[in-house]
Amino acid sequence: MNNSDFKTKEYWNLRFTKEVEYDWLMTYNDVKESLVNKVAQSDRILIVGCGNSTFSEDLYSDGFKNIVNIDFSEVCIEKMKERCKDCTNMTWQVMNMKTLDFPADSFDVVIDKAAIDALMTSEKSAWTVSQECREEVDEVLSEISRVLRPNGTFLSLTFVSPILRKALYANEKYDWSIQITTVDSTRLFPCYLYRMQRGERLSAADIELAHNRFKVQENVKTLLLPNEQDNEEFLLNIDSDIST
Ligand SMILES: C[S@@+](CC[C@H](N)C(=O)[O-])C[C@H]1O[C@@H](n2cnc3c(N)ncnc32)[C@H](O)[C@@H]1O
Repeated sequence: MNNSDFKTKEYWNLRFTKEVEYDWLMTYNDVKESLVNKVAQSDRILIVGCGNSTFSEDLYSDGFKNIVNIDFSEVCIEKMKERCKDCTNMTWQVMNMKTLDFPADSFDVVIDKAAIDALMTSEKSAWTVSQECREEVDEVLSEISRVLRPNGTFLSLTFVSPILRKALYANEKYDWSIQITTVDSTRLFPCYLYRMQRGERLSAADIELAHNRFKVQENVKTLLLPNEQDNEEFLLNIDSDIST
């Protein structure tokens, strides 16, 4: 298997044919404390790339009844519909998170748990993000921003640290501010909860990040272009992809 398979619907369909239940990163209980004060029980919630995790059911059991789940895997959605048929107010739809089939301003909260991470899996280095990947993530974030109500909240759970992920989320065109919480700092690989609040301005530092995002990456690339005269640039060889 190739790591970039995680981006394909074929991989997920096959996986969901065999796998009954799997929670990526963490369970609802692990994140509940950090999450519940950011969401009201009456909120209309969209969960993107829901997978076969128990997250939506647990959220539902905790009193958040107005939940719409989407995933691009038909196998996943069919199985989840059946598994959760008793959660009568919760719906399941086959949908690509890059093209959300909902009107603008239709959700109070959008939750991503490791779904955007799945788009990053063909990247060759954690330190750089290819133009293609940036565009794909931008498609998803633009859609999430569009379907969020003016003061709505986008919550993104990922193991990717702010130094690598924040630059993707910091963009004035999404019309949101960013706050980041470490969910469990005692874990070897802690998870991060990114909270984007629509209608709030990015901080000055994040505006600067938004304007300079990826320029650093480009500059590093320029600086690190292999010098043919010098064979001692051994550090460059650690990430052999950096100049591609
Ligand atoms: C790493 S799993 C996370 C699943 C679940 N959210 C969890 O936390 O356990 C990624 C999920 O995103 C879905 N996915 C990947 N790309 C997608 C896309 N473009 N549109 C909708 N769903 C997608 C996959 O089918 C899979 O269910």
